[in-house]
Formats: sequence, C-alpha cells, structure tokens
Amino acid sequence: MPRFDHHNFILVITILCIFQFSTSLKIGETCSMDDDKCDDGLRCGTCPASGNTRPRCTRIQPINPTTKVNGLPFNRYSWLTTHNSFALSGSTSPTGSPVLGPANQEDDVASQLRNGVRGLMLDMYDFNDDIWMCHSFGGKCYNITAYQPAINVLREIQKFLEENPSEIITIFIEDYVTSEDGLTKVFNASGLSKYMFPLNRMPKEGGEWPIITDMISRNQRLIVFTSKSTKEASEGFAYEWTYIAGSCPNRSESSAMNTTSRALVLQNYFSTNPNVTGACIDNSASLISMMNTCQQAAGGRWPNYIAVDFYQRSDGGGAAEAVDQANGHMTCGCPNIAYCRVNATFGSCDIPVLSPPPPAQLPPDEPIGGFGDGFLISAAAQPRWFYGVFLSALLLLAL
Ligand SMILES: *[C@@H]1O[C@H](CO)[C@@H](O)[C@H](O)[C@H]1NC(C)=O
Ligand SMILES: *[C@@H]1O[C@H](CO)[C@@H](O)[C@H](O)[C@H]1NC(C)=O
Ligand SMILES: *[C@@H]1O[C@H](CO)[C@@H](O)[C@H](O)[C@H]1NC(C)=O
Ligand SMILES: *[C@@H]1O[C@H](CO)[C@@H](O)[C@H](O)[C@H]1NC(C)=O
Ligand SMILES: *[C@@H]1O[C@H](CO)[C@@H](O)[C@H](O)[C@H]1NC(C)=O
Ligand SMILES: *[C@@H]1O[C@H](CO)[C@@H](O)[C@H](O)[C@H]1NC(C)=O
Repeated sequence: MPRFDHHNFILVITILCIFQFSTSLKIGETCSMDDDKCDDGLRCGTCPASGNTRPRCTRIQPINPTTKVNGLPFNRYSWLTTHNSFALSGSTSPTGSPVLGPANQEDDVASQLRNGVRGLMLDMYDFNDDIWMCHSFGGKCYNITAYQPAINVLREIQKFLEENPSEIITIFIEDYVTSEDGLTKVFNASGLSKYMFPLNRMPKEGGEWPIITDMISRNQRLIVFTSKSTKEASEGFAYEWTYIAGSCPNRSESSAMNTTSRALVLQNYFSTNPNVTGACIDNSASLISMMNTCQQAAGGRWPNYIAVDFYQRSDGGGAAEAVDQANGHMTCGCPNIAYCRVNATFGSCDIPVLSPPPPAQLPPDEPIGGFGDGFLISAAAQPRWFYGVFLSALLLLAL
C-alpha cells in the first residue's frame, strides 16, 4: 500500500479547488463576455436595451421535448424556429458584394440545428440561373441582397438529418421561385428529397398528424411548406396556409388564428426592423406574453412553431424558454417541459422551488463567476462558495 503522501494530498485538494472555481456557470449566473464559461446550451450575454447590463448566462437551446414525452402526434410539439435563418450578420455575398440590409441571425444553419432549432424560414429566389437565399426589392434578388446559393444551406440540413436519425425539421419557404421545377431541382440536388414528408400524408382538415416515432421510422423527417399556393399542384410542395393556422400576431395572408381546420399553429414574433440590440427585448418577457395571447386567439392551442430573429438573444430564458413552456402545456399538461415526469399521467408535474431572480445590473466589484445564483434552488445548485470554503478548510487541516 502506498504511503500517505502529504504533498500529493495537498496537490489534489488544490486542483479540486481550482477546478471548482473554474467550472461552468448556470443560467443567470454572472459570466465574462471575453471568456464564456457558461454551461452547454447557454451563452454569456447582456440586454442593455432593457437595462440588463450584468453579463449573465442566457439560454440558447430548448429542451428536446421527445426526451421527456415521446410518441405523440407531430402537432403536439413545439419547435424553435428562426426567421430568415440564412440572413447572417456581416455576410459577404459569393457574388463579391457585401450584403446590404438587415440581418436576422448570427450563426449559420448548421449551428442553429445543433442548438435545437427545428424550424427554418428560408427566402428563395431565381438568381444567376440557380436558386438563391436572398432578400429582395420587389420580388427580385440582387448581388447586394444575395446571401448564398440555396443548395449550400439545404446541404447543411441534409447533413444534419443524416447524422441525427431521430430529428425532424420543418422548412418554411418564402417562395419567389418561378423557374420550372425550380424547387424540385434544388431539393433533389441537395439530397433532401428522400427525407420529405409526403404531401398526401399531411392532414388537410385539422386532423392529427402522424406520431413522430412513425415519421422517424419511415424516415419522413423533413416537412416543407411553401408560401406559393400553386406549387402544390405543380411540384407537390405543401402550401403553408392549408396546414397552418396563424400567424400570430395577425398576418393578412394567413388563415384566422382560431381556425380548427389547420392542425399546426405558427407564432411569428419579430420586428419589422430587426436589430441585434432590440431582439433581446422581443425574445424575453414579451415573447412569452404574446404566446399566451396567441394561445387564447388560437382557441386554446399552443404554437407548434415559435419564430424569432436573433434566437440566441434574450435576458435569460429567451425563445428556448417559450418553446419549453409550450411543450410542457402540450405534451404533459405542465407549465414547462422541464417539469414533465417521464411516462406520467397528463398533468402530474415536478415543479421546482424558484429563487428570486438575480439583479439586472452588475454590483460594483463583484468577481466574475461570484454570487450570481441561478434561478433554481436545487441540490445541484448549491452556492459555489460553500464548496470553496469546505475545500479550503480541508486544505488548512492538511497543512
Ligand atoms: C454581380 O456580381 C457578378 C459576379 O458574381 C458580376 O459579374 C456582376 O457584374 C454583378 N452585378 C452588378 C449589378 O454589380
Ligand atoms: C427529382 O428526383 C426524382 C427522384 O429521383 C426524379 O424522379 C425527378 O425526375 C427529379 N426531378 C427533377 C425536376 O429533377
Ligand atoms: C388580430 O386582429 C383582430 C382584428 O384586427 C384583433 O381583434 C385581434 O385582437 C388580433 N389578435 C392578435 C392576437 O393580435
Ligand atoms: C374565429 O374568429 C373570428 C373573428 O375573430 C370569428 O368571427 C369566428 O366566429 C371565430 N371562429 C371560431 C370557430 O371560433
Ligand atoms: C430595434 O428593435 C427593437 C425591438 O424589436 C425595435 O423596437 C426598434 O425599433 C429597432 N430599432 C431600429 C433602429 O430599427
Ligand atoms: C417509458 O415508456 C416507454 C414505453 O413504454 C419505455 O420504453 C420506457 O422505458 C419508459 N421510461 C421510464 C423511465 O419509465
């Protein structure tokens, strides 16, 4: 048996202490913008526009609802959706021109999908003898608004579906394509066609969608909607407003929120002048408040898609929290999917005790990673200083 070595013991305790103080941070805890130590699924951010200047860990990933409640019809789940998913800040068009006009997101579609985004809103245009993701002046794409060829983004989606065989994605095409079979060609070329959920299986009169495990086992894991009604007859792409109620807030071309002949409900929540500084306000309390308003307007139905700009921006829970709340109500009758019990009866919930939220501003001289408690009190969220003091006491004893 090895001799008890005093110095090794001290070394181990010291390493434990350092590890404890450098470990990752939970939601709401104070973080450093230069050195993001937030847990997975969080990112360090502020929301100065609403007075929240203390850098804190904010959520960017919703809970995957099927890890809690699996096997329900597709229309019983809610999915985080990005508006203009392709329109990234600081883009240069492959035409060589810098892209002008407002951006809507900060990371590419591959990264969005890794963060749990499952709805993508993509504007498609005829451009340069191909289909491009673009913004427009009067329905036409120009070099200065041409983000990239559509196939680049579609291939990112194809790769994700291939690598994640249990995930389902929805694409909403804002469709300006007039070239013959334009959509079919680009979907074929991207390798996405084989994943497409067939039009003839989409419930037309508000009936339930197939259960998600059925969609997964048949590998029909890509739902595509177009904004152009004629594409259903010409190319077999589903016309969005035949299957979706919404959008909320009001949008003229969509069907009334309260229509029950559409099984899916869309909530669009983004500004007409998207900007990264304002988005954190939209994606915080007002998003959840509008979700509750929309739920009433939709005849008591929660949104299946919650579409936002700059989805990573908020002052805390953000769009991820809104999606988790919708999923809780829909899948297990709890106010949040986090509170659902696995395989329990509808309405039996594990609701944690909430602690008061941490302050909005940074108190003077507070060390980074200090006393910014999380929102939840639980055994796993014991104050960090407790371990620090405990380990330091051990260290002193050892000396
Ligand atoms: C658009 O970009 C192409 C290069 O991809 C260039 O040949 C063309 O002149 C540009 N058009 C305008 C109007 O700048
Ligand atoms: C798309 O692919 C399908 C299946 O391979 C094929 O039958 C169809 O002709 C293709 N359509 C176009 C327009 O390329
Ligand atoms: C939608 O518009 C109608 C009529 O303009 C209005 O009464 C209703 O409150 C609006 N609903 C929402 C959720 O904005
Ligand atoms: C839906 O709302 C409209 C106007 O807000 C109303 O006229 C209609 O009766 C409602 N339909 C149902 C099914 O509640
Ligand atoms: C920025 O976004 C906020 C919130 O969406 C909006 O109220 C504001 O008008 C926008 N600002 C500009 C300069 O467009
Ligand atoms: C929940 O139910 C499913 C299907 O009956 C079963 O496979 C799974 O093991 C159950 N999970 C738990 C935690 O009881």
